[in-house]
Parts: sequence; structure tokens; C-alpha cells
Amino acid sequence: MSLLDEIEPLKAEALAALMAVSDQSSLDSAKGAYLGPQGKFTGLLKQLGTLPKEERPAVGKAINVAKGELEKALKVARDKVELGGAGPDQLVDFTAPGRCRRSGRLHPLTQVTEDIVRSFRKLGFAVADGPEVEDEYHCFDALNTPVDHPARDAQDTFYVDTPERPLLRTHTSSVQIRVMQEQQPPVRIIVPGRVYRRDTADATHNPTFHQVEGLYVDRGVTVGDLKGTVEFVFRELMGPKTQIRFRPHYFSYTEPSFEIDFANALTRKMGKDWLEIAGCGMVHPAVFEEVGYDPEEWSGWAFGFGIERIAMLRYGIHDIRLFYENDMRFLKQF
Ligand code: DAH
Repeated sequence: MSLLDEIEPLKAEALAALMAVSDQSSLDSAKGAYLGPQGKFTGLLKQLGTLPKEERPAVGKAINVAKGELEKALKVARDKVELGGAGPDQLVDFTAPGRCRRSGRLHPLTQVTEDIVRSFRKLGFAVADGPEVEDEYHCFDALNTPVDHPARDAQDTFYVDTPERPLLRTHTSSVQIRVMQEQQPPVRIIVPGRVYRRDTADATHNPTFHQVEGLYVDRGVTVGDLKGTVEFVFRELMGPKTQIRFRPHYFSYTEPSFEIDFANALTRKMGKDWLEIAGCGMVHPAVFEEVGYDPEEWSGWAFGFGIERIAMLRYGIHDIRLFYENDMRFLKQF
């Protein structure tokens, strides 16, 4: 066997001996047997001189590379002895194919969003999208929310510090405006997306969360259509026995406006008869005028609700922050 051919088998033998090290004496003997002055590996280096001159550089290099690996293994073995056997007992090859092939899964918020989208699709709604970095016009003005409205307060809203004062959208309602500016009625859309508010994080608040917006515009659309749609979707999402209730409320972009409460076994489990879940109403004529729709010809409804809220109820989660920590112990449960 040529010297070059001896390197790999000897290296493998030495690595096996070093990995098997369990205490100081086995460490000393493995080191002595291969890397010490009388060691087998050191012996290879000594034989280098017997090779013809032109073969020496290549073989010398191969020996040094292998020796480098052995020295790393020696260090691992030393650390292991020092730590009382607590170190890794195998050198890890991170390039090896995985032994355990588990597919990932969707985040619970994504799962709930997909369920919501699936229900609305059955009713003919399309998914629309808009920018998270918005301007005040789409987020507030066009939604009939004037400059002095508290929703625009710098306390509640993240503004970007540039002359145009863009902001992180505080609700998905801004996308209603963008869609209506782009297309003529009829409109039937939902908008799942991320929104931002200057809230400090606690069990039920987070500075960013997700909403679904809905908008339906056609001729002769009524509150009855709104109620029927919301009831259909919530029963699909939260069970067939879910009940819905509309309470009068105020939003500047709808008239009349309502808050939607719902009740089912989950709310009763929480000790509540009704739980507030969404805001909605008939699109305000001023909003239609702003986007160039004739309010005498068209009518419509809109709603918005929080996705986290639904996911928390559905899965019995009491702390919203769990959704954003990406702790595998949490995520694996869905
Ligand atoms: N934008 C409201 C919020 O963030 C929710 C909402 C209420 C959306 C009424 C609507 C609506 O489209 O008509 O709290």
C-alpha cells in the first residue's frame, strides 16, 4: 500500500478511537497511539522522507489535512473528558441528510386566516391586498375620518419621519379605498392583513396584529345582506350553533354602524353571554363620493375584525404574545 492510501484508513481508526474516549486514561492512550511522538499517525509523517521528492508535497498536504481533523477530534475528546462526559459523543456532520423527515405546519394565525378566506370565497368574495406603509389619505381622510379625529393621534399611530408623513396602517379599511378607486362596482372583496397601533404588548394587545376587512358594493345591498353574510361565516368558523347580534355603534366611514357580538359554547365557557368581535356598517355616502361612486345608485356594507381574537377564542389561548414568539412547543400544537 502506498503511503497516500494509508492516510484515510488510519485517520478513520484514529477518529474512532478519539470518539470512544470516555476518561483521562483513554484520552491519553488514544492520543499516544496516534498523535504522540511514537503514534501511528506521526509515523506517517516520518515516512514522508522516504518518498521520492516529487511525491512529497501532495502526500504531505494530505497528511496535514487529516492531522488537522484529528486535532479537532482530540479537542472535542479533551472537552468531553473535562466536562465529565457531558460533551457531544459524536462529531456532527451538518451536511448529512436528515434522519427525521417531518414536514412543517402552518402558523395558527395563517390557518385561521385561510379558513376565513375559504368561507368568503364560497360566497364569491375575492382577496384584495394593499400596502402596510400607507398615507393618511387612504387610512383616514378618504374614510371620512377628519384631521382632528382621535384615531389619527400620534399616540395611537406609527408615523414615518419623512416629509410625506407616511404611516403604518392602523386598519385594513384603507384597502377599501384603494380597491374602489381602481374598479367600478360591483365589488366583493376581503382583505386579510397586518395592522399597527401604538399599544404596549400585554396578554390581549400587541403593536402589530391582523385584521380581515370585507367590502360589498352593489345595487340594493342592505343590512340584511350584511347580517346574513356575517352569520354564515361565523357559523362556519366557530360552529353551527354560533349566534350573532348587532349593536349600534359609531364609525365615521359607515352609517348606520354596528358592533358585532357573538355567542356560543366558547363564550359561555369564558363566563360571557356575548363577546364583541367586529365592527361593521353600511358604507357612508361620503366615502362613495370620495372614490367617485354615485351613492344614489350604489349601496354597500363593510366590516373589519381581528384575526388574533378569533384564533384565541377558537384555540383557548389567553396570551396574544404566544402568536409572535415562535416557540416550537406552542406552534407544534396546531
Ligand atoms: N376599522 C375598524 C377597526 O379597526 C373596523 C371596522 C369597522 C371596519 C367598521 C369596517 C367597518 O370596514 O365598516 O376597528
